Amino acid sequence: MQRRGLLGIESLSREQIQQILDRAKFYQPLQARTGKKLDTLRGKTIIHLFYESSTRTRTSFEIAAKRLGADTISISAKGSSADKGESLLDTLNTLAAMRPDAIVMRHSASGAPNFLARMLETPIINAGDGSHEHPTQALLDALTILDHRPSLAGLRVAIIGDIVHSRVARSNLHLLIKFGAEVVLCGPPPMLPREFECFSPSVKLTFNIEEAIADADVIMMLRVQFERQNAPLIPSENEYFRFYGLRLEHLQAARPDAIVMHPGPINRGREISSEVADFPRSVILTQVENGIAVRMAVLDLLLAEPRL
Ligand code: NCD
Repeated sequence: MQRRGLLGIESLSREQIQQILDRAKFYQPLQARTGKKLDTLRGKTIIHLFYESSTRTRTSFEIAAKRLGADTISISAKGSSADKGESLLDTLNTLAAMRPDAIVMRHSASGAPNFLARMLETPIINAGDGSHEHPTQALLDALTILDHRPSLAGLRVAIIGDIVHSRVARSNLHLLIKFGAEVVLCGPPPMLPREFECFSPSVKLTFNIEEAIADADVIMMLRVQFERQNAPLIPSENEYFRFYGLRLEHLQAARPDAIVMHPGPINRGREISSEVADFPRSVILTQVENGIAVRMAVLDLLLAEPRL
């Protein structure tokens, strides 16, 4: 991992990803303890700057920072000077002038954190940029899969939904391929451009949900990202659910121990039925829980002083 921050999975090596996952495994048991607060990042200040809505990512980054003993400040675009016409770069330069140790940011523009990382000394941690990357989501997803499987190599992972707009799909794709998993991407044609096949020979595309799920070890469902569509890509939500919504009967075609994942927020009855969301092998809340350990690991590796 670069000392300058965490921008995406694409630029990380397998070894760097493994290092984060190993550190996250070290932090996982902390969740079960009563005294959760450590002093690893005591004296550090982390700014969380969110230009897009977030429940899980924002809260878990803040909890992770606080559990490591850092001071945190949280800013939403609404209520900041972005409302008064200040440019993104000016806002970031202003925050950087207050000498935080890192800025965790989410923005609707793909590439915004990469641009800012070139302009600023302060390490930038990408909490999701447009349809580009969401690195900590892919890391927490990998950690969750590894709670159920000894390794990612050789697994068949089906990612189903609005692939074209999903930063979660892109970051997962980069990570899973680096570790030798086979990825099947599935969605309606306007949400599944052919270019995705160019990612790697281990990526397969299908418009058919049954085909995607057949023999899958992991089924990862995605929300339809209406906020990123200029014109509607699907005729109706009911029709979408009929062809691409995950229902209990689909799971018979998967491996008997297959797990169901979703980055959240879930829309019951749109991309996933309530029965599947609450199904014993649905690990959606474990993903949320693992988000803390992964974000603690990232903050620790980026910001903690070297230890003996
Ligand atoms: C995702 C995101 O914001 O990219 N959510 C998350 O971070 N857990 C997925 C989504 O919004 O659908």
